[in-house]
Amino acid sequence: MDHLLPPEIADADRAFPEALAACGDLDALLRLKGAYIGREGSHAARLMDLLKAAPKEQKRDLGAAINGLKNRWEEALKARQAEVEAARKATGAQLWDKSLPPPLPPRGALHPLNRLMDRLVDVFRPLGFHVEEGPEVETEAHNFDGLNIPADHPARGSADTFYLAGHPGLLLRTHTSPVQVRTLKNLAPKILEMGGIRFLAPGRVYRKDEIDPTHSPMFHQVEGMLVGHDIGMHHLKGTLEYALRALFGPTTEIRLRPSYFPFVEPGCEVDVSCPLCGAKGCRVCKGSGWVEILGAGLIHPNVLSLAGIDPAEWSGWAFGMGVERMAMMLSQTPDLRLFFENDQRFLKAMGGLD
Ligand code: PHE
Repeated sequence: MDHLLPPEIADADRAFPEALAACGDLDALLRLKGAYIGREGSHAARLMDLLKAAPKEQKRDLGAAINGLKNRWEEALKARQAEVEAARKATGAQLWDKSLPPPLPPRGALHPLNRLMDRLVDVFRPLGFHVEEGPEVETEAHNFDGLNIPADHPARGSADTFYLAGHPGLLLRTHTSPVQVRTLKNLAPKILEMGGIRFLAPGRVYRKDEIDPTHSPMFHQVEGMLVGHDIGMHHLKGTLEYALRALFGPTTEIRLRPSYFPFVEPGCEVDVSCPLCGAKGCRVCKGSGWVEILGAGLIHPNVLSLAGIDPAEWSGWAFGMGVERMAMMLSQTPDLRLFFENDQRFLKAMGGLD
């Protein structure tokens, strides 16, 4: 039967055992495999062409000869591959296939807290709110004075606030409310032309809190503010209901409780019906069905006039909400510190905040 094979194939077959033995690594072996039984341009491929072109009466014998040859090559290649791999394992060398695409560097992503703040901004943007920013190193004037916070207010004490040593009057802002003061002052000359003011101010804030599962000396807030004509608590409540339902789901209820902040009058704290248990009572809402989410109120007339805006003409509301608290609820994260440890496994699992 073998006489049917062309002489160059017989030559190749004779050279095969030596060529195989010379393959010292997987690369060389793959090259030899390509040359003998590869899909294109190999000896085997040439034989298949030959078979196609052969006269009918030769096809059976020629086919058998070709198959026999191919099988023999295949078996031998497999056996040699096992040897080469065993030898590689024995030396501990790494196998790598140069033909594979290189691994891509891992792609970065925004931090879950930043994604949540972006989401809040997205909720308010269609209502005409833009984003304002202020510095994290603030002046006492912006952080306290401009907010109608009296000189003897306990929040000003060095037990609660980080003051910058050697820089009197400078501190790490304790809330995002100083952005109210800056923005009101900046936009006061344009308020008529703009027909009012509405903005969101997300950012980092600092307080001398001990670190525990629900406290950190650095955390995030989002401030919201609106100034217009004849603005009342009903506007505030309606806006918050819209925004908190967009965040926590359409069946969310909100509740306003009277509270005190020097820069609003009246002031309130706002709770949402616990999104985890549907207000039935669970660990997160401590059995009450409600979770406090932000402080808010109608802008105190003093805050407006200190910024150069006439409180007889203009009124408005403001709120400040804690981002970590919200992120913990939305993602059911029991410990706030997880957000700052930058464990990739945690950060990657935080997809639910989008
Ligand atoms: N700044 C307040 C806080 O940090 C929250 C707040 C903002 C309250 C705006 C009322 C109005 O607790």
